[in-house]
Formats: sequence, structure tokens, C-alpha cells
Amino acid sequence: MNNIYIVPDEWSIIENGFDKEKVSASESLFSIGNGYMGQRANFEETYTGESLQGSYIGGIYYPDKTRVGWWKNGYPEYFAKVLNAPNWIGIDVKINGQVLDINSCKVENFYRELNMKEGWLKRSFISEMPNGERISIESTRFLSFDIKEIGAIQYQVEALNFEGSIELIPYLDGGIVNEDANYDEFFWKILDIKDQKDEAYILSETLKTKFEVCTGMKSILYVNGEKQELTPQSQVFEKKIKHHYKIDVKQGEQLSLYKYAGYTQTMNHSAGELQQVMQEALQKAANYGFEKLLKLQIEYWEKIWETSDIKIAGDIKAQQAIRFNIFQLNQTYTGKDARLNIGPKGFTGEKYGGSTYWDTEAYCIPFYLSTKRKKVAKNLLIYRYNHLEKAIENAAKLGFKNGAALYPMVTMNGEECHNEWEITFEEIHRNGAIIYAIYNYVNYTGDYSYIPEYGLEVIIAVARFWTQRVNYSEAKKAYVMLGVTGPNEYENNVNNNWYTNYIAKWCLDYAAENIKKVKKEYPDDFQSIVKKVNWQDKELDKWVEIAQNMFFPQDKERPLFLQQCGFLDKEIKPVDQLPASERPINQNWSWDRILRSCYIKQADVLQGMYFFENHFDTDTIKNHFDYYEPLTVHESSLSPCVYSIVASKINNIDKAYELYLRTARLDLDDYNNEVDEGLHITSMAGTWLSVVQGFGGMRNFNNELSFKPIIPKEWTSYAFKVKYRGAILEIYKSHKEVKITNLSDKKITLFLNGEKINL
Ligand code: BGC
Repeated sequence: MNNIYIVPDEWSIIENGFDKEKVSASESLFSIGNGYMGQRANFEETYTGESLQGSYIGGIYYPDKTRVGWWKNGYPEYFAKVLNAPNWIGIDVKINGQVLDINSCKVENFYRELNMKEGWLKRSFISEMPNGERISIESTRFLSFDIKEIGAIQYQVEALNFEGSIELIPYLDGGIVNEDANYDEFFWKILDIKDQKDEAYILSETLKTKFEVCTGMKSILYVNGEKQELTPQSQVFEKKIKHHYKIDVKQGEQLSLYKYAGYTQTMNHSAGELQQVMQEALQKAANYGFEKLLKLQIEYWEKIWETSDIKIAGDIKAQQAIRFNIFQLNQTYTGKDARLNIGPKGFTGEKYGGSTYWDTEAYCIPFYLSTKRKKVAKNLLIYRYNHLEKAIENAAKLGFKNGAALYPMVTMNGEECHNEWEITFEEIHRNGAIIYAIYNYVNYTGDYSYIPEYGLEVIIAVARFWTQRVNYSEAKKAYVMLGVTGPNEYENNVNNNWYTNYIAKWCLDYAAENIKKVKKEYPDDFQSIVKKVNWQDKELDKWVEIAQNMFFPQDKERPLFLQQCGFLDKEIKPVDQLPASERPINQNWSWDRILRSCYIKQADVLQGMYFFENHFDTDTIKNHFDYYEPLTVHESSLSPCVYSIVASKINNIDKAYELYLRTARLDLDDYNNEVDEGLHITSMAGTWLSVVQGFGGMRNFNNELSFKPIIPKEWTSYAFKVKYRGAILEIYKSHKEVKITNLSDKKITLFLNGEKINL
């Protein structure tokens, strides 16, 4: 764990004092987004110290040519990367001609706050210039949820001890590069730069993908509260445009610059209208004014919190953390556009390229199902439905036939982007998560119509993949799956990863069940699917046969399901016997040593027991937790949340709490020493799960909703809300009581600690 410097607070992330070493980490932690775009918390004014300039637009990507040591047939040609987009937050400041740069000027009273309740970011400080002029700066900015294409900045400067000139220079910079570019290329082409009084525009185009983006800004200056009708002096460069406002001030005078800016782009508008739409959005924002826009922002967040807040009493750090996780998830994905998804780092950094991983299906779906309209989670499913053809092509490239689909490990548009053979070709369990998400959606919402309309085609294609991926072992008299990588990426090319075999079997069972149901209850839909996918009845028999005869590695004496064949040949030594200096092992050990060790990166067998908890009794789950948890290093952000939920299930509350803190404060306390790269957005959904399904014990199997709340001793109470089939439920738990309130008119039957109740 890194030095903790974030001030505990119920509703805000607060940093007091300026530390150059922490600038990059804070840029991640204080990131803002509105589902359409997002940005790291870079400073508006010049900063020459260590920093990652980052501003991203959902869906605007570049196919960066693959870079690998040794090419293998089947590797994808490119890795899709969400592009680091033109910078529109920039406002340079000059005092008597000297540039303000807090990397070299003195800084006092530095304060930064990300207000999660209201959705804005503020920063204030006093700075002393090399010549002794002292100024105070206060900036507030947010990305509007009402006019999604714009953000607003209020930037105030006060002359504290001098008379002279202050220059404020708002600018647009189209020359931003991706730090993770494989060949150091610049991914944009600047098409045009336009200058119009207090407005400016940069029109640019992404290379290869040809998305066009118009970045626009409009600024309005106030001096001592009075609006100035000024036309700034402008300077146009090859990729940049600056507007200069120079004002002579006396001591105590104050300038306020309002900058409205943002992007329009060709995913949503035609190329010819980009500038005009941008201009209209800027004008609308300016007409509202900063205060009104901010008020709308606050109202928007009020609505979000109404259904998604979790209140934890008696533990301020846990409270702050859960809100941070919920806040970031809401900033990243709003569910309005089925072309967008949730990158593991959201809009907060470049790692993972902003692409889609199995994280969405395995972790994020339940959060959106319970806190949003059903359409939001449905759009995430439709995203994969729309990529089905590409998943079939992807499988065909690897030699699979007859409409078998292998969904990519990493993707932007349905094509595989990952290029490590042990993951691209072998980490195929991801295919199971896609089906599990469909099951989850239907099971939670009761909306079966999704299956005949969309789901069944995906289910069939994935079942066809598993059918071809297994082979019958004469020696074992069972179907085996060779050469795979399970969720635990610290094992590669293993035979019979228990989790993968289990989810494959489950997919086949689920496919068979749905074929029968759709055939009987939706005969017309069934007929059109039969034609579309060339369905043959005999496929069903094969699925059933494989599902019934799948091999599962186990030690029958213990009894224990083994993570894979041969797991017990390893030297088994719990993680707590490893010297602290060697952890995390992925930063200290050779890959070869990691692979041979017994250490588990993230939930693997336990991932299966979590998904399919209703298939196992509690003692079995406990035995597996007790065996595998001590061997788990949790070096994936996706790990502690699953273990925390299972720990709650087996009533190991202290462990559940320890793991909860680890998942919830992973970024705030920088457990993995990497927060400067961006936040772990997808695992934040896991944090939510560890409260709602973990401590709250919410389950939803076979159309029955149930709760079994427990509470860690560190908390005095907690409360959360879930939406469920038209009802809104509030669950409150303290050490004395548990209360469930139905906040809607919709009647609902549920189980509380095993007892049936009607609300
Ligand atoms: C994990 C994967 C995950 C990816 C993106 C990796 O470290 O092992 O399971 O999909 O990160 O979050």
C-alpha cells in the first residue's frame, strides 16, 4: 500500500497540500466523466512536472499496429486504443509576463476536492511567482450530464500583493499523443483550425478509423464580477489555438474566466455539421451560465444517488470508498448507447486501451441491473449481440466451424485485439461470461423475451464453440479441455481448468434448456433462428452428451476441486509465508517462477463457486475458500471482491471486511502501487457486489429474491437500495436489526434470512 494522502470524507475525495510525487496518482483519482467523455484531473494551467495528459471520448479509437516479439498465426493485426483526444481544459496563466507553473513556483494552501455528491472537481491554492507576486487560484470544473458534449470551467485568479498584468490564455491543443502508442505515432490528422471571436475550433480526424472530431471552446471573462465584452487576441499554431486575455489589475482584484468546451464527433453527427453542433452546444451552455449548468449537474447526481447510494455508518473510510466506486461507475457508463462499453480503466488512463473485457459481463452487469433502468444492462448485452458475427469470424480464424463463436478477450468493435497467445487463444472462459450475463439479466429482470429476440443466437454460437473445443479422452472416459488459461492468469496452457470446464458445461446445459423452451413457447422466433443459424436438432444431443460427461479435476479424498490437472504437484506454501519484499510477485519474480508456483492471481475455482453458488452446499464452498484463499495474491483488481462475497457467504466476516477494504480502497490507498496509470473501474462494480451480495447477502436464483444481511463489527449500520422488477427496495442493517422497505407501489415477495415475506 502506498502512502495514504486522501482525506477521509463521506462525500468527497480531498487532497490537502501539494506534493509533486503525487500529481500523476491524483490525476487518476480525481478523474471526471459523463459517460460520453472523460478526463484525468490534469491542471488547467501549465505544469511541467510528471503528468499524464488524458482526455478520452467513448468509442473514438485507433487500431494501433500489433507489436509482439514473435508473430503467431491467429494474432490480431492491431490493438484498439481509445484515443487521447485534444486537450480543451488548458488555460495558461501569466503574471507580469511570467508563466505560472506550480512545478517551479511556490505553492501554499493547495486544496483539491472531487465532490461526488454533486459531480464537480475543485482546486485552489496560493502561488508565489519567482518575482514575488502572489496570486490565489480557484478552479471548478465538471463534465455536464445535461449537455453531454460539453464541460465547463470556472477559473479565478486574484492578485494578492501586486499591481500589474494578468494574462489568461484559454487554448485548444490537438497535438496530444497516446503515451501507450506502439510505434510512437501521432494518431490524428488536423483538418482545420477555426477562430471566431471568443470561440475556437479544431477539426481533426483519427487516422485509419476516420472518426472526425470537432473540439470547441468558448470563453467569457469577468473582472471583479463584471462581464467584459472582449475579443481575445488569438494565436494559431499547427495543432493548437490560443486566445489571450490580458488585463491590468490592482492588488485585490479578481479575474474569472468561464470556459465552455468539449467535443462533437461523427459517431453521433455527420462530418459536415460537427462545428455547428459544437457551436450550438457551447452557446446553450453559455446561455445557461456556469451556475445554472452546475445546478443541473447537482440535480442529475441527486437522482443518481437516490437509487444507487450505499450508506455506511461508523466507518468513514468505507463510506468514502463505496461512494467513490459508485461515482466512478456512473461517470463511465450511462447505458444510453449500445456501441459503448466499460473499459477496465474507464476514461482515467490508457492501460487496457479503453477496450472491452469479460469484466463487463462478469462484474459490471449486476451493478447496472440493480441501480438503473433495465435498458442500461440490456445495452451491454446488445453490444455483444452486435458483435456476434465478428466473434464467429474470430473463431473461424482459429479453425472453428459451423457458426461457433469465440468472443474476444479484448475488443472495441468485436474484433480480437489481444496478442499474447496464452490469453488470446487460451483464456476462453470469457465466452462463458457472455452467456452468464444473459442468464443474469433474464434471471434478475424476468424479461425472458431477450432470449428469443437476441440471446439464443449468441447462446447457440457459444455452445458450438465449446462442443468443438473439448475432445473426448479415452484415458479419462470424459470430455477434456486442453491448453487453456483460466481466470488465474498466473497459470498458462493448463489442462482442464476447473472453472473453464464448469462454465462450458453450464453453457451447454443452459443452451439445451433454452433451445427447448424457445422451440415450445416461441415457435415463430425459433423458426427464424433455425434458418439464420442453420440449426440442426442433432446438435442438442451432442451438447447434452458433452455436458454430462465433462471432466473435472478433483482430489476425491479431501474432497477438493482442483484448479487444473496437476495442481497438487506444486509446492503448496501460503502467501503469508512470502517475504513482503517479494510482493507483488508480478513486479518481483520472473514469469517462469510465477507459472510454476502455487500462487493464484485472482479468483478462479472461487469465481465458479461464486457464479454457481446454488450448485454447491455451504461446506463445499467453505472448504474451497479455505484452501484457495491463502494461496491467492489478489494481484488482479478483480479478485478481492469475489473472495469478499464468498467470505460473507461462509460467515467469515472479518475476512470479508478485510477484502472489502482492499477492493473498495484499492485506488484510494493505491494497494497495487499503480494508480497513476488510471483507476480500476470494472472492479469497482465488484466492490458494490461485495456490499450488496456480500454483506447484504442478496441472491436471485429461480425467480426468488433473497437477503441474508450480516454486518462487520467496524460498522454501526449500512443501507443500500436495489431496483427489482419494478420495485425499489431499501435494505438497512445494524447490529440490532434488519429492515427492508419497499419504496414503490409494486408488491413484492422476497426471502429474508430464509423467511418468506410480502412487501
Ligand atoms: C485480469 C483479467 C482482466 C483484465 C482487465 C487482468 O489483470 O487478469 O481478468 O480481464 O486485467 O481488467
